[in-house]
Amino acid sequence: MSHDLFEAAKAAMAKAYAPYSKFPVGAALRTEDGRVFTGANVEVASYPEGWCAETTALGHYIMAGGGRITEIAVIAERTAKCSPCGGCRQRLAEFCRPETKLYLCDNGGVVETLTMGEMLPYGFQGDMLR
Ligand code: THU
Repeated sequence: MSHDLFEAAKAAMAKAYAPYSKFPVGAALRTEDGRVFTGANVEVASYPEGWCAETTALGHYIMAGGGRITEIAVIAERTAKCSPCGGCRQRLAEFCRPETKLYLCDNGGVVETLTMGEMLPYGFQGDMLR
């Protein structure tokens, strides 16, 4: 991964609105044509109505026209490896291939690299709806 995706996720984390959990998270994803989209978690006083950093990034990506995602970086300042929640795995998988790389980062850089297939094996897929 080029360092810029990690830096983008870290910069996004600085914009997190997480006054309740105090657990800021940042995410950055890159499409095959090189565009980078970022997001942070957003919390609200009615706790279940907040959403994750990955979901914010996906919203930006969709509004910019989407495309194939090639790599994703996630960072949370309070843990060395912020593993995407189950809902975000499902949302990310919608726009990735099993071989899409996912980088779990700490404040210094990438700590672990996985694939989406490893993160969400045997997930529910759209073709099951046909
Ligand atoms: N969070 C994310 O942004 N991404 C994840 O994959 C895991 C959890 C956020 C949601 C909430 O604002 C805070 O972390 C604590 O759960």
